Amino acid sequence: MRRYLLPILFVSLLYWSCEESTLPEDCSGVEDGSALVDSCGICDDDPSNDCLLDCSGEWGGMNICGCTENTATNYDSTATFDDGSCISGLTCESYYNENISPIFSNNCYTCHSGSTTSGGLNLTLYINSLNAMETILDRVTREEGSGGFMPPGSSKLTQSEISTLLTFLEMDCE
Ligand code: HEC
Repeated sequence: MRRYLLPILFVSLLYWSCEESTLPEDCSGVEDGSALVDSCGICDDDPSNDCLLDCSGEWGGMNICGCTENTATNYDSTATFDDGSCISGLTCESYYNENISPIFSNNCYTCHSGSTTSGGLNLTLYINSLNAMETILDRVTREEGSGGFMPPGSSKLTQSEISTLLTFLEMDCE
């Protein structure tokens, strides 16, 4: 019996030390592996396909954000998540009255209103301004003093005035 005792002890010691040195398994069951559970609850070790937040704040979501109200001027039929960007028809005119009119009245009316409608353009009317918006932006963004620059003989509109005009153009008003 005694001659077996030592080998048995040795074998069990070996087994014990083996158990001890076992490294922790990762989420895929691989010992010392580098796989991680991503925010979508998927376990893998490829960081290139990691779960992303979509525009609505959903992990791994496939939402298309935009305006989902079909009465809005910027209604997007492909959108699945309303991001609060809807602009109603009414918003167009009030945006124009509050933000665009003052710019035109301060910089353009001397030549584009009443009996002086240079280039045939009267900027006091919403519909005229709306139709001419692309041309207007082209003219006011030219180099100051260059051919066709508006307002001629004056300094260029400020960057913030120009972006206000751009916002109005992008609102796609009718
Ligand atoms: C000092 C007078 C004067 C002022 C101020 C002025 N314009 Fe003009 N504008 C003209 C004249 C003259 C023309 C016609 C010649 C031409 O097309 O360049 C014209 C033409 C235009 C045209 C082209 C119209 C068309 O359909 O061909 C646009 C757009 C325009 N102006 C926008 C503006 C805007 C916007 C402002 C203010 C930021 C402005 N203008 C200020 C004199 C002026």
